[in-house]
Amino acid sequence: MPRITIQPSETNSQHRMPQLQDPPRILFVCLGNICRSPTAEGVFVRLAQEAGLVVVVDSCGTSDWHVGQAPYAPMQAAAKARGYDLSTLKARQIRLQDFDEFDLVLAMDADNLAGVQALRPANARARLQLLLGYAAEAGVEQVPDPYYSRDFDQTIDLVEQAAQGLIRALIARRDSQLMKGGQ
Ligand code: 4NP
Repeated sequence: MPRITIQPSETNSQHRMPQLQDPPRILFVCLGNICRSPTAEGVFVRLAQEAGLVVVVDSCGTSDWHVGQAPYAPMQAAAKARGYDLSTLKARQIRLQDFDEFDLVLAMDADNLAGVQALRPANARARLQLLLGYAAEAGVEQVPDPYYSRDFDQTIDLVEQAAQGLIRALIARRDSQLMKGGQ
C-alpha cells in the first residue's frame, strides 16, 4: 500500500518535473520488487521524511514472480545495517491503474523502463523515467540488479543518491509554486 510521509533548496536533476498531484505520488519499479524498488521505497520514505517533504510512495515489479513476498533477506539485511527497515513491505506487480494514480514511475533499469512503457495507456497521468536521472553524480544510468551482482550496498548507494536528487527537485518545485502563489 502507498505510504505517506510527513511534510523543505534546488535541483540538479536531469529530469524535467511533470505536473504533480499534491502530495506528489511516486512509484518505484524493478523486476521482482524484492531488491531494488523496495529499497528505493524504504530509502525515499525515510529521506523525504527527514527533509520534511510530503509524498506518497510505493513500489512494484514488472513481473509477478515474487508477489506477496517480503524483500529478499540479504537486501533487507544490508538496508537494515544502513538504517532502513524494509521488513513490512510486500511485493506486488504493476497494474494499469498505477499509471493514473501515480505522477512519476521511476524504473531501476532500461528493461524495467521498457516494460512499463509497453503497459502505459496513451493518455495516462504518469511520466516514466529512469531513477538514476536524479543522480547525475552517480555516473551510471541504471541500478544493477543485486540479485545477480550480490552488491547490495551498491544498490543502497545509488538509490540514496537518486533519492536526494529527487527530493531536491521536489522541494525546488514546491518552493517555486509557493513563490507563484499556486500549489
Ligand atoms: P529486483 O531483483 O528486480 O531488484 O527485485 C530481482 C529479484 C528476483 C529475480 C530477479 C531480479 N528473480 O529472477 O527471481
